[in-house]
Parts: sequence; structure tokens; C-alpha cells
Amino acid sequence: MADLAEIQFLAKRKKEIIDNCPECHGRDLGCACYKSYRVELRKMDSGMPRKFWNYQLPDPKTVSLDRLRVVLGKLQAYTIDLKANLENGVGLFMYGPSGTGKSALACSILCKYFELGATGTFQEFERYITTSLHSREDYRIYDEIKTDLHEVPILVLDNIGYEGVQSIKWMAATIATNFEALLRHRSNFLKPTIITTSHEDLKFFAQAYGECVLSLLTEKNVLLNMTGLPDFRKENGCAQKKTTIKSK
Ligand SMILES: Nc1ncnc2c1ncn2[C@@H]1O[C@H](COP(=O)(O)OP(=O)(O)OP(=O)(O)O)[C@@H](O)[C@H]1O
Ligand SMILES: [Mg+2]
Ligand SMILES: [Zn+2]
Repeated sequence: MADLAEIQFLAKRKKEIIDNCPECHGRDLGCACYKSYRVELRKMDSGMPRKFWNYQLPDPKTVSLDRLRVVLGKLQAYTIDLKANLENGVGLFMYGPSGTGKSALACSILCKYFELGATGTFQEFERYITTSLHSREDYRIYDEIKTDLHEVPILVLDNIGYEGVQSIKWMAATIATNFEALLRHRSNFLKPTIITTSHEDLKFFAQAYGECVLSLLTEKNVLLNMTGLPDFRKENGCAQKKTTIKSK
């Protein structure tokens, strides 16, 4: 659900994009400005964190870090034919240490799908888990979120593996079952899923959710290892170095 800050942000963007459009000054519904504004609306509808709304996938040529250039090169290759990825269910599996930019980059890819005209959902995995565990008490809650996550054309599942309830047996079993059902359905219907995680050892996923989940996670997705990149939170925070991700 949109909060006040999001509504204000959108109103500002509408003014900038549509009302001040040099082509139509907001008068032509068929103008490209309306298309651009629809992308902004999709960002809000998707549940994408607002801090990432303005991130764009950086051009690998513009970055100085070798490791980052390699990662961005792979992402750029993934974006060359997003339409084919959308039709064939090819997603991304981004893994690596905290602060290396996984969520930011996942959002920049989601935006590219929005520009293509697709809709999508950004879901923090921990919240998905909480909701699916609630479903033991009220199935309707789970049904609602399930319908969206199973069917949405593009799904970002952010930060999997940190829900921290693996030690409780029935919870771990419910999570594994629901997660497998979600991945299986999306795989069967060729719907891409973009996953981010800080677990660098893929064996973790087999242990936590079962071999089948690991198999589904890696089935078609492009694997992107972010290990070796710095923690940009520290870099940006302490040294005040300017980021390599450009704002609009
Ligand atoms: N390539 C980059 N250059 C500079 N800053 C970046 C870059 N990528 C991301 N950032 C910044 O670093 C911060 C951390 O990025 P992000 O939240 O995407 O990391 P993460 O890998 O998802 O971390 P976590 O595993 O903790 O969720 C963001 O606030 C973003 O502003
Ligand atoms: Mg993250
Ligand atoms: Zn216009």
C-alpha cells in the first residue's frame, strides 16, 4: 500500500514527466511521457523500496572496479533480450556479501522490465515467510499473497535465507514446502524470478529448503556471484566516495 511519501513522490514525478513534457505539455495520452509515468506507477505498485526507485543499471564502461565491471557486464548481457527472458522464464540468482549492491541491481533490472511494459512484484523474502506462516491460522492471507507471487510476470525475491526460523521444525518444513511450490509454479509457467541472497555457499539452500529448491533456483537462472565487491554501504558512508550507480 502506498504511503504519503510515495504519493507525494509520484505527484512530483507526474509534474516533471507529464505536465512539463516538452512534446505535449500533458495533453497527449499517446505521448511517450505517459509511458514513462506508467513505469513510475509500476515501481510503486510492485512494492519496490523507494530508495531504489531512481537507480539505473550502470554502464560497465563507466566503472573503475574490475570486479564490478565483470558483474555489470553479465547483467548487461542479461538485459540484451529481456523479452526472451520474459517468455522463457529466465531469471537471475544474485549471491554475495551484504552491501555489494544485489538489491539495488535487482531493482534496476525490474525497472527495465517495467519499461518493456511488464508488471512485477518486489518481495522481501522474510515478509513472504511471515505471511506464509500466518496462513496456518488464516488461509485467505496466504491465498492473496500466493496468487500475486505465483502469477506475477516478474518477481524479485529479496534476501532469501535470512528468515532465521530454520531451527523450528514445523516452520522450516512449511517454509520449504511453500517456497518449493512457488518456484515450481513459476518454473512450470515460464515466469522469471530474480533472487538475491547473502549466502555464498549454494549448499545452504539444499540444506535449508531441500535439494529440489536448489535445483529450481539454479535451473534456468543466470547466476551472478557478487563476491569480491566491496560493501558499498561502508564505502559510500565513510569515505563519501560517489557511487557508480547513476541517478535519473
Ligand atoms: N555499484 C555501486 N556503487 C556504489 N554504491 C552502490 C553500488 N551498488 C549499491 N550501492 C549502494 O550500496 C548500498 C547497498 O546496496 P544493496 O542494498 O543493494 O546491497 P545488498 O547486496 O542488497 O546488501 P544486503 O545483502 O545487506 O541486502 C545501497 O544503498 C546503494 O546505495
Ligand atoms: Mg539486499
Ligand atoms: Zn508528452
